[in-house]
Amino acid sequence: MKVLLVGSGAREHALAWAIARSPSLTELHAAPGNPGIAALGHCHPVRADDGDGLLDLARTLGIDLAVIGPEAPLVAGVGDELRHAGIAVFGPGAEAARVEGSKSFAKEVLAAAGVAAAATLSVARAPCVIKADGLAAGKGVFVCRTAAEVDEALRGAAAFGTSLVIEELLEGYEVSVFALCDGNRAVPIGAAQDFKRAGDGDTGPNTGGMGAYSPVAGTDVAALVEQIHQPVLDELARRGTPFVGCLFAGLMVTTDGPRVLEFNARFGDPETQVVVPRLEGDLLHALAAAANRDLSGVSLHESAEAAVTVVLTGPEYPARSDYAGAPIEGLEAAADDAFVFHGGTAVRDGRVVTNGGRILSVTALAATVGEARARAYGAVDKVSFQGMRYRRDIAAAAGG
Ligand code: AMP
Ligand code: GLY
Repeated sequence: MKVLLVGSGAREHALAWAIARSPSLTELHAAPGNPGIAALGHCHPVRADDGDGLLDLARTLGIDLAVIGPEAPLVAGVGDELRHAGIAVFGPGAEAARVEGSKSFAKEVLAAAGVAAAATLSVARAPCVIKADGLAAGKGVFVCRTAAEVDEALRGAAAFGTSLVIEELLEGYEVSVFALCDGNRAVPIGAAQDFKRAGDGDTGPNTGGMGAYSPVAGTDVAALVEQIHQPVLDELARRGTPFVGCLFAGLMVTTDGPRVLEFNARFGDPETQVVVPRLEGDLLHALAAAANRDLSGVSLHESAEAAVTVVLTGPEYPARSDYAGAPIEGLEAAADDAFVFHGGTAVRDGRVVTNGGRILSVTALAATVGEARARAYGAVDKVSFQGMRYRRDIAAAAGG
């Protein structure tokens, strides 16, 4: 099978690693990819959101399966464009991707599917959560515990220029649950906890994610997928917009049970960097089966091992995501004990340098979360670049 992987983050590097292990792979191509992915396949200078460029590339290369990583091309309909040209695509069409692209659409689908979500409020009064509708890269959500925070949130959310969604403030712990979907069936692949704030102790601004671990104690992944993903798939299929791809449910587990905070129409980043290395089975075979609308014969199992990933960023992330040109040392030494997934790197004069906000994602596997954490930080200690920053408390409270 000839595969085109779309995207350039550490999530895509983790997917590339798993795809490259599959006996059914003949060629791995990526657009645009990154220097980590380049060690596993061929990278092409086509942007992830350039639908026409991707279609040309896929036709020229004779691609059998396109796997789309990021949300922007999915919401923009790149999946539809490729599918209309007869190429199997892992990733939903624009209509089904609205479960991520539009919070109000997601709420409507959840209500029709009978799945419990945070209740919508008609007035913004503390405590509540105020969200800008539409894609805002995690920055459009304001958790308000006081009236002053509500005022500030209303001003902040207005800057996005979209309509607002106001929700009840839920208390509990968060977990991200992932399933591969073929339009009708969902195959659970795991759950992870993500660390969204920039600073230790969950302080500082929201980011794309500073680290993650898996498994999450007390989380019955299969039961959650049955309870949450499956009814949503059924509802989307009923509407004539079946969801093919990775459905990612962001849940708050409350004392009254799980409540959906959000859906994403793709793999999570950095959750993929802990979920995928734990999977036993042929991931490429599963992605192709989903894209070809039949996951019935597919089984993937979570390994008994735990995984922890730590994201290394540039000095001003998340305010800036363009930290370019600092040479990165210690990549090979770190890879002795861990996976070093590239997120924002480039090669300059034969050396790997920084080129982004979330630069590397260092993942380790071990028997327990605690041991995986120690091993991941041990590998992080071997990596260095000027201005390198990371959280020191990823998975610290997870025990094990
Ligand atoms: P979202 O982009 O909707 O997942 O929101 C980003 C983050 O805001 C979530 O990961 C939660 O930490 C928080 N959040 C969102 N909605 C709620 C809610 N209804 N109650 C409590 N926290 C929330
Ligand atoms: N880590 C959260 C996300 O991928 O949206």
